[in-house]
Amino acid sequence: MIFLKNVSLQFDQKVILNNVDFKVNQGDRVAIIGESGCGKSTLLKLILGFLQPNNGDVLYNGVSISSMTTSELRSMRMKVGMLFQSAALFDSMTVGENVAFSWCENQGEDYDKVSDKVNEVLEMVDMAGYADDMPASLSGGQRKRIGLARTIAMSPDVILYDEPTTGLDPILSTSIENLIVKLSKEFGITTIMVSHQKSTILRTVDTIYMMNDANLIYAGTPLTIEKSDNELVRNFMSGGL
Ligand SMILES: Nc1ncnc2c1ncn2[C@@H]1O[C@H](COP(=O)(O)OP(=O)(O)OP(=O)(O)O)[C@@H](O)[C@H]1O
Ligand SMILES: [Mg+2]
Repeated sequence: MIFLKNVSLQFDQKVILNNVDFKVNQGDRVAIIGESGCGKSTLLKLILGFLQPNNGDVLYNGVSISSMTTSELRSMRMKVGMLFQSAALFDSMTVGENVAFSWCENQGEDYDKVSDKVNEVLEMVDMAGYADDMPASLSGGQRKRIGLARTIAMSPDVILYDEPTTGLDPILSTSIENLIVKLSKEFGITTIMVSHQKSTILRTVDTIYMMNDANLIYAGTPLTIEKSDNELVRNFMSGGL
């Protein structure tokens, strides 16, 4: 489904990714961890085709992203949803219009005709009844859930989550974690998550990759990671997260 093949990327002289091989199959749930600035968000941007590697290739369903036309890139991005850390809502639109954005903007639907579907998606993120509110009146956690609702509304095959639970209280974190797992299990959505939150990583994914010094240095599972032979990984899980 998503394949980074020998990918290297540098900004100016600085190597950010060095010969990274990373493969995610349909339905997988994976997390990428590593210290701040190690290149996690950069890796997500490569998957979305916002950045191109200096060497190697990024493939989506077997097709090289660098060979895609503008319209192929656009359709790929409609299948690969991204939940930004900041939620990135449109502040001049209501919550409902934000959620309906892909239906109205990409599919030309009338907002009035999709309002039932909007309410269904809002219910999934525990935000029923907020369709007419403005984003500015919401808390950080509520904005995050609306961001997720907008992503879900695209019916994506893949969701990239950048820090989905950072800044949320433990109860909200758990509800987002449950929702991420539910989306994966019920709809087969492939999940790629960047997170520093240990509880979220351990509860949500099947495979954890760690990046260090521009390389993927470790792949493990929530059951094995804390007993890893790799000291860097163990230290990161006990103190770094
Ligand atoms: N457009 C850019 N131009 C130059 N350098 C960049 C650019 N984008 C990112 N970098 C550098 O690449 C490195 C990796 O950045 P990235 O945002 O991927 O880190 P990260 O692992 O997501 O960190 P964090 O956990 O803090 O979000 C950093 O050193 C950053 O300064
Ligand atoms: Mg980042």
